[in-house]
Amino acid sequence: MVIRSPSLGAAEPFLIQQDWQAYTPEQHATWAELVGHRMPQIEAHACEQYLQGFHQIGLKTDLIPNLADVNQRLRPRSGWSATPVSGFLPPDAFFAMLAARKFPTTTWLRSKESLAYIPQPDIFHDVFGHVPMHAHPVFADFLQHYGAVCAALTDKDALERMGRLFWFTVEFGVIRQKGGYRLYGSGLISSQGESSYVIGGGPEIRDFDVDQVLNQQFSTSEMQPVLYAVESFDQIYEATHEAERRLCHGV
Ligand SMILES: [Fe+2]
Repeated sequence: MVIRSPSLGAAEPFLIQQDWQAYTPEQHATWAELVGHRMPQIEAHACEQYLQGFHQIGLKTDLIPNLADVNQRLRPRSGWSATPVSGFLPPDAFFAMLAARKFPTTTWLRSKESLAYIPQPDIFHDVFGHVPMHAHPVFADFLQHYGAVCAALTDKDALERMGRLFWFTVEFGVIRQKGGYRLYGSGLISSQGESSYVIGGGPEIRDFDVDQVLNQQFSTSEMQPVLYAVESFDQIYEATHEAERRLCHGV
């Protein structure tokens, strides 16, 4: 079955423009502080595809990203863009955007007083954490197909299972590389605390298995006790097709 990309219908009310000129020097300085704080650990522990993507999309260490500039570099590579939205999206809007290769991207930045933790994603989590991986062709195809599968699902239990696949890949994924584990999930990339916990051997890291992942519950409010390591990004692309077969077609 071919799943068609739905229109952005449900997401339309949430689409905004990024007013890049409106960021203050203090906000750019906060971005620079966040990036400066993360980079030593990222350079040592992020996967090579993330680091390549970071440079390919032209992220700057001292300026909040101008999404139009990022997209000029990203779109020709993978068809993805970082599309500004007003805030948290309901699931149907979120999936419609992923299916259309548009990543819902917040434009606000945390304050200097909350550098380490914020309850809702900001532009640092969304762009520094997520967008570099969208330059990678297999990851790009995986995420688009993930959105298309979820957009076609109506069953609550099936959507909850797909939410686990997102959590253990896009948000908290690790990959085996260079004789160890490297980070690619945005929840790890954008968080010093979560990354340090993983690097320090805190979680049990299991081999990625789609059935286990679809059944693995998680908490958003504590460090992750279990993570799943892939061998390559082909594995999560295949896992999404496998999940589609199980949850959409019952095979
Ligand atoms: Fe995220």
